[in-house]
Amino acid sequence: MSLQLDQRQRAMLAEMGVKLWAPRAKAAAESAAAVKTRAPVEKAAPVPAPARTPPPARPAPLPVSGPIPAAAPASAALGPRPEGVESMDWPALEAAVAGCRACGLCAHRTQAVFGVGSRAADWMVVGEAPGDNEDRQGQPFVGQAGKLLDNMLAAIGLSRQASADTPLAGRQGVYIANVLKCRPPGNRNPQPEEVAQCEPYLRRQVALVQPRIILAMGRFAVQSLLQTTEPIGRLRGRVHQYRGVPVIVTYHPAYLLRALPEKAKAWQDLCLALKVAGAPA
Ligand code: URA
Repeated sequence: MSLQLDQRQRAMLAEMGVKLWAPRAKAAAESAAAVKTRAPVEKAAPVPAPARTPPPARPAPLPVSGPIPAAAPASAALGPRPEGVESMDWPALEAAVAGCRACGLCAHRTQAVFGVGSRAADWMVVGEAPGDNEDRQGQPFVGQAGKLLDNMLAAIGLSRQASADTPLAGRQGVYIANVLKCRPPGNRNPQPEEVAQCEPYLRRQVALVQPRIILAMGRFAVQSLLQTTEPIGRLRGRVHQYRGVPVIVTYHPAYLLRALPEKAKAWQDLCLALKVAGAPA
């Protein structure tokens, strides 16, 4: 597939560690131009030096004092998930998530993190769970991993800023949501019962957005959407399905920040997703 990339997209690919082939004279001219555009990009998404130690699949747990609670303390009143999630419209769904007390994570959240981006988008990104920044800001992927995600998306012409009411919202927009809407304390792994309680919300989001493609990022997103325990490395490079929507599996941006050589694989995954969904306008 040949991609027409502008200088900004090339600079972003350089950020991802992806080298593009170009005839020598042209390449020299373009890399000089890319250097000019790189400063703001680096400011937006600083990429740390490559780490030599093997990275964990999830970001390293934040320091916590005392044991990490796996379930709600007895004082937090849990309740059933609201009825009728499968037929809710956006406002009802958002309200249901905001008030959800179906699992113990509600006891620890600052707020639920519903989702962001164009609700008419062709592309949907599914991550794992909010972290500390997301819990405080109420938006998915707002930390360093989020900046890398935004740069990866920008490299293929997509932006979470394209809102649902602009003409290009479908083609250039992206809707971003997590499997879990509430932050697991201490950034611990999601527990199966938490995923099970939260899954209907994501299922409804997918049904409402009706994306042409889902990019599943990270082990828990992949395993939850595809109902598998296979590792990402074995699932990449193929088109999977979630309720009739093609799913492309890729690494979590937090993992990519620690494993820079894997960025080239993430780029391959994006290219596969582009091929399946069709390039944004
Ligand atoms: N990691 C995720 O998977 N989702 C977020 O929203 C933030 C970090």
